[in-house]
Amino acid sequence: MQLIVCRDYNEMSRRAAGLAAESIREKPSALVSFPGGETPVGMVSLFVDMVNRGELDISGTRFVSLDEWVGLSGTDEGSCRLFLHEKLLGRLRRPFADVHIIDGAAEDLGSECAALDDYIARYGPLTLSVLGIGLNGHLGFNEDGVDFTLNAHITPLSETTKNVMHKYFGEKFHPAFGITQGLAQIMRAEKVVLIASGAHKAGILRKALCGEVSESVPASLLQRHPNCFAVVDEAAAALL
Ligand code: PGA
Repeated sequence: MQLIVCRDYNEMSRRAAGLAAESIREKPSALVSFPGGETPVGMVSLFVDMVNRGELDISGTRFVSLDEWVGLSGTDEGSCRLFLHEKLLGRLRRPFADVHIIDGAAEDLGSECAALDDYIARYGPLTLSVLGIGLNGHLGFNEDGVDFTLNAHITPLSETTKNVMHKYFGEKFHPAFGITQGLAQIMRAEKVVLIASGAHKAGILRKALCGEVSESVPASLLQRHPNCFAVVDEAAAALL
């Protein structure tokens, strides 16, 4: 794992966007996964700017969802699908090859998992997986205690995730489950970029990067990834 400590959130965003662009330049037919949440907002914005300025050709690039709250549709505030549309896809003024997005409101969630697996199997492995980290060490919705060998799956949300989820959609929704790419798929990605910002992430980042590899801290598995970058700001790196 290569650790890149950045001065602040803006520098973290810039470095992560640069790593993403590098992956696509190396492999124009890239399969790329970006996370939702607060941390990637700056990175995704800079990525879009690069594309729209003509500095990065994404005409061969496919995007695929990382995760979604079960029960939320693409019009629901706080859904990962809406995030992808508002922050990424809807802002792009240049063509991209394709996108596969999880529908958290689908009736048949088993089919959603199968479709995600099929898409990644067909066009993958992932060229680039950008990931945030939850306060419990989750990646996507690979919650603490997850089986490292899983592909896409539905999972009960941990108490930690339930405690923080209201920052995304207030009290309007109370999802109890998430749907997510599995760690097996993430670990097969050619490059992983883990991003983290803020003092509140310092404790879990220390466990993930410096602690033992354990299902109780899913992000710790990234210590075994052969091409993983942790791009973090000084506040998040404070305990490393
Ligand atoms: P955040 O979410 O970027 O909103 O902190 C990270 C995560 O839970 O994966």
